[in-house]
This record gives sequence, structure tokens and C-alpha cells, in this order.
Amino acid sequence: MEVDKSLISALIESAMSADYTGVRRVGGQIAKRLAEQNDLEGAKALQSLLRKRGVPLQASGYAEALPRDAGSRLPLIEEGQWPTTPIMLGGEAGHTISQFIEDAKHIGLLAEKGVSARLGLLLYGPPGTGKSLLAGHIAASLKRPFYIVRLDSLISSRLGETAKNIRGIFEFVPTRNAVLFLDEMDAIAKLRDDRHELGELKRVVNTVLQGLDSLTDDVVTIGATNHPHLLDPAIWRRFPYKVEMTLPEEEVRRSLWQHFLFQNSDKREESDLLARASDGLNGADIENIALAARRRSILGNREPSLAQILLAVQSSRAGNPRLLTNRELDTVDKKTLTLFLHDKAGVKVADIAGIVGVSRQMVHRYLKEAEHG
Ligand SMILES: Nc1ncnc2c1ncn2[C@@H]1O[C@H](COP(=O)(O)OP(=O)(O)OP(=O)(O)O)[C@@H](O)[C@H]1O
Ligand SMILES: [Mg+2]
Repeated sequence: MEVDKSLISALIESAMSADYTGVRRVGGQIAKRLAEQNDLEGAKALQSLLRKRGVPLQASGYAEALPRDAGSRLPLIEEGQWPTTPIMLGGEAGHTISQFIEDAKHIGLLAEKGVSARLGLLLYGPPGTGKSLLAGHIAASLKRPFYIVRLDSLISSRLGETAKNIRGIFEFVPTRNAVLFLDEMDAIAKLRDDRHELGELKRVVNTVLQGLDSLTDDVVTIGATNHPHLLDPAIWRRFPYKVEMTLPEEEVRRSLWQHFLFQNSDKREESDLLARASDGLNGADIENIALAARRRSILGNREPSLAQILLAVQSSRAGNPRLLTNRELDTVDKKTLTLFLHDKAGVKVADIAGIVGVSRQMVHRYLKEAEHG
């Protein structure tokens, strides 16, 4: 076989730094090269090796290098996997994200021309809207290792220890061409409680600022928070790219249902209806309801009806999805669902009758009853 020396060095380098992501990437390139040279068996054998999970870093000794909390000995940073499920984004978020990725990919050129920006991206918005998932996707599209730091886990009750933990993180990351994901950024603000000494918050904020400022231009930092208003303004400014992760709009909800419930088979009408009906739910809720429905269809004798899924949607609130059960709809369910489809999803009477499984006359009756109280 003929393989570039540069690929071999890259492979060895990744292996020596226990960078599985890198080993997979370079290994994949080598397999491709083999396939191009018609060594299909060799390529296949390599690919199957690459599918192995790799020794957990704890066992490899590499984890020793990860910074740890002095008291608990727990690692302060973990290496995340690149996500395998897609992310559905609305237009505006998608636009900023592509721009961010584009800038990150060409940071060398931008720096040369003197127009580089700090590669800091802040994702803010309610829980379950895909912030963590998106951060992983960005690491994947930049083909960089993905390091996750949950700021709440850095907070130590021991005086001075929190700032020390934060320094440990920032000293560790720049040595690896990585995406650093600072999750739960608002945890810092919560130091404003009585367990902590007054100066602690200020000291911790300063440590974070110094850490962010110490990173070289090419380190990608992604912060996430559910409470942007709690963030210190100076920290806020360190992230020039900002994306608000809102609850998904109708178009995005349709893709979520398509993906999680229908596995992208052609169910346009059903996903349109579910998209309209699920206004106010987040991506994680939709995923949860959809997977519950698929579990029921695998373990039960028959597929859950669209009505059962809609009823689960109807009784869910953002962050609190109601999973569906196998039981038949009773009269109360039918009435509830009728009103819901009529008022919230704007479904026509004939269609409601079909979905709920009652006559049109009955639908009219339910609607009248509701009107009169
Ligand atoms: N826009 C989306 N596209 C695809 N999947 C999504 C989306 N939003 C949520 N999900 C699903 O919900 C799961 C949870 O989302 P995630 O953990 O990324 O949310 P988060 O915004 O980080 O929430 P939190 O603020 O609670 O940390 C994801 O792993 C994914 O399966
Ligand atoms: Mg998250």
C-alpha cells in the first residue's frame, strides 16, 4: 500500500496524545486512500477497527492528565463525543452558526489580514433547545476534539478552590486544538449566595475573564446558559458571536417530528399536524414523546394512533412532556382532543372526526358543549 508519510505522522501524533477523534479522522483518511488504491479488504478492515469505541480514557492513563478537583478528585473537564443525531435549527440561528464555523475554519487567513475575531460563541435560551447538542455539532464540523466543562461542577465549597479549578481548565485546553464548551455559565452568578465569601464571586469572574483572555486565537470557546441576564457583562462581551436558542418554530418542529417519530419516512400530513399542535414544546420534549410512541409501537401489539400522540402533546408543557400510554381514548380524552385540534391546531371538523375516531355530529356536539360551558 502507498500512504502519505504525513498521514502516518498525523496518526502517530493523534495516538500519542490519546486523541481518539484524531485517530478516527486520520484512520478514515487512510482507509479512503486504500479504497482508492483498490485495496477494499484493507479499507474495510481499517474501518471496522475505527468503529471500536476505544479504551475509556480513565483506563488509558490519559485521564490522569485531565484537571481534577482537589477535594473530590473528580475530573473538571470531560471529552465529549461528536453527536450522531442531527440538529434542527431555525433560519436565524443557522445563519450565525454557519458564519461562526466559516470564520473558525479560516481563522488563519483572517488573522493574517488583521480582521480575526475571538472565536467565542454564546448560546442562550431555555432548556432542551439543543444548546449542548449544537456545541457538539460545531466541534464535529470543525473536526476538533470536544471538551465539556460544566461550570456548576467547578464550584467548590472550599475557599479559593473554585478559582483554582477554573485556572486548571484554561491551562489545560490551549494545549489541544479543541472546542471548549463551557456549559451552565450562569452557575458563576449563583455564587452570590450565602455559602460563599463576598469576594469569591468577583474573584471567580475575574479568573474566568483572565482564562478567556489567555486563550490563543484559534481556540474555539462555546458558552451556554439558560439565564443570560445573570451573566456578568464582561463575560458576555467575551463572546462576540451570540445565538439565541429559542423554542423551535413550526418548520423546525416539523423536522423534529419527521426525524424522531417518522424516521424521515414520508408522513407529511401527520408531521404538519403535529408541528402545528406542538407549539410551545422544546426539541427535547418532542424527542421524548416521539420515542415513547415508538417504544409503545415496538412493545405493544399495535402502533399508537395519531390521536394518542396528539393527546400526549396536548397535555405536555415545555420541559415537562407527557408520555403516552397504551390505553384507549375515553370520552373525556376525545372531548379534550377535539377542542385542542379545533382551537389550537385549526383542524377542520371532518378531519377531527377522522383523527379522534368519532362522527362529525359528535365533533359538533363536543364543540357545542364546550361553548355552553
Ligand atoms: N433543535 C434540535 N434539533 C435536534 N434535536 C434536538 C433539538 N433540540 C433538542 N433536541 C433533542 O433534545 C436533546 C436535549 O437537548 P440539549 O441537551 O442539547 O438541550 P440544551 O439546550 O443544552 O438544554 P439545557 O439548557 O437543559 O442544557 C438533544 O440531545 C436532542 O436529542
Ligand atoms: Mg445543555
